[in-house]
Amino acid sequence: MARKMNFNAGPAALPLPALERAREELLDLAGSGMSVMEHSHRGKEYEAVHDEALSLLRELLAVPGTHEILFLQGGASTLFAQIPLNLMEKGKAAQYLVTGAWGEKAVGEAKVVSAMLGASVATQTTGTGDGKEKSYVRVPAPAEVKFDPAASYLHLTSNETIHGAEFNVEASRAFPDTGAVPLVGDMSSDFLWRPFDVSRFGIVYAGAQKNIGPSGIVVAIVSKELVEKGRKDIPKIFQFRTHAENKSLYNTPPTFGVYMVRNVLAWLKGLGGLPAMEALNRKKAARLYGAIDANPAFYRSPVERESRSVMNVVFRLPSEPLEEQFVAEAKKRGMVGLKGHRSVGGIRVSTYNAVPFEWVDALAGFMEEFSRGK
Ligand SMILES: Cc1ncc(COP(=O)(O)O)c(C=O)c1O
Repeated sequence: MARKMNFNAGPAALPLPALERAREELLDLAGSGMSVMEHSHRGKEYEAVHDEALSLLRELLAVPGTHEILFLQGGASTLFAQIPLNLMEKGKAAQYLVTGAWGEKAVGEAKVVSAMLGASVATQTTGTGDGKEKSYVRVPAPAEVKFDPAASYLHLTSNETIHGAEFNVEASRAFPDTGAVPLVGDMSSDFLWRPFDVSRFGIVYAGAQKNIGPSGIVVAIVSKELVEKGRKDIPKIFQFRTHAENKSLYNTPPTFGVYMVRNVLAWLKGLGGLPAMEALNRKKAARLYGAIDANPAFYRSPVERESRSVMNVVFRLPSEPLEEQFVAEAKKRGMVGLKGHRSVGGIRVSTYNAVPFEWVDALAGFMEEFSRGK
């Protein structure tokens, strides 16, 4: 079997050892004679997997005791609604820093909730252009971020997956300091690629299908203060406290998904954890941006240098037909998932944790060869 070099943006490549472990354990989890999918979520076999996934995540990210780790369902899109449902307060604004299409989606849901709860939404955007679709090529420096000290929270998207613009890669693009206003981060596409200080955030959340495991699960790390402060007049299932009080076992969790998360986290720990992962990811990004910058007559990164994403490397070729040819020829060499998002075009290389340096090196070599032939 020849596995593809998978550069998809999500669902994305999973670490081969995590998949192989699932294959080995599929019919018989820990000598129980049953698959993890067939076990009760209240039984000891599943509970051991669930607890290990939670404790590995706490260890890898050094999540402080002030924060709960929740495994929720419905992807990051559900959190777009669930966060305002929990945190919005009548007469108060929630602030959204919009640096791309996912931030726009989060604002869309926040506006619906604010109308229901008598709150308001204030936005600050780095998007330019008057059309329906704005152009996004940067994240703001901390000093550019304006926030209302009375806001319920400030939401940002730490990495805009479609545009390839990311916070906190360069020191000049650190996360803003919001003082007493809780900072909320959608980290779907840049969770777990490096260490970061969880205590700076009131909430961080991430859909699993990039760096954590299979789609459907969303991990949310929520400060205990916000869990307690959360509204009680919303359905129980949407309250963070419900899941915090029940160790994410209030209702039936996606057990196979949590099992795969455990496998991925165990693999990550075995590699040396987040510092080792960061070194590898920075090496991959340097190889790709190096190939782009070495040939400015052919390749162009639309993203401002200080905002360049380490996880989603976006670039253009001189014409759309050349971009199509690039994607088609790469595919013949076993490299898939390179077409940019339909809303922005171009090429997008997603280099999540499970993508080895060898794939990136092969792609960068192909970029050099492709441009020489034109
Ligand atoms: C930054 C970001 N936020 C949110 C989402 C939505 O995630 P989901 O499809 O799991 O709801 C995505 C999906 O790719 C994303 O990249």
